[in-house]
Amino acid sequence: MLNAAAAGRNKEPILAVLQESVNTKKPLQALEISSGTGQHVACFAQALHNIVWQPSEFDHQYLDSIEAYRAHYQLHNVKPPIHLDVSLPHQCWEEVQPESFDLVVNINMVHITPMACTEGLFRGAAAVLKPRGVLLMYGPYAVNGQISPQSNVDFDLSLRRRNPEWGLRDISLLRSLGQASGLFLEKITEMPSNNKCLLFRRESLV
Ligand SMILES: C[S@@+](CC[C@H](N)C(=O)[O-])C[C@H]1O[C@@H](n2cnc3c(N)ncnc32)[C@H](O)[C@@H]1O
Repeated sequence: MLNAAAAGRNKEPILAVLQESVNTKKPLQALEISSGTGQHVACFAQALHNIVWQPSEFDHQYLDSIEAYRAHYQLHNVKPPIHLDVSLPHQCWEEVQPESFDLVVNINMVHITPMACTEGLFRGAAAVLKPRGVLLMYGPYAVNGQISPQSNVDFDLSLRRRNPEWGLRDISLLRSLGQASGLFLEKITEMPSNNKCLLFRRESLV
């Protein structure tokens, strides 16, 4: 059970957005892309019993951690984690069927992976979401070419120094990528520590 300090801090604020954004009574299916340690899925699954969660990860050491959280909390509404490379076409995502999810969640990934992952996220989410399904993203973003405050500017620079393909993504770019796949930016929620939640919804007919 690995522990990421940021996940410990942001899981409850993100849960609050989820509780406002999805039906909390109807049975739903959710896919988390890049689940990390498993702290988020463990928190969300304990609070939202109507949702069956499919966690996923690219990094194999995290798959063990997610499984450890699942076992520790006896999370009956969390499926065993699957290996998923979001940059690959969704047909390569094991055990993930087209139009089978009501919700796709992706936290703190797009700024710390190459653009191919952001592009794959939108294309893949559009394919695996049911019509009217929701993609909920969380992280720090640029807005109309501007990054603020200074701590996010510094963070962006440090990411780009580590890998020139990383860096904060602009919401207008994400909006365009979403639109190209039939996912429309419906809501932006300001979050603690200068982060945001972006809610995209799949249009009825793609
Ligand atoms: C900053 S971590 C965020 C993890 C978790 N969502 C959280 O907030 O604690 C970035 C994540 O992106 C994942 N990642 C990197 N490349 C990926 C890929 N090609 N497909 C899916 N996930 C990837 C990493 O394994 C890592 O878990």
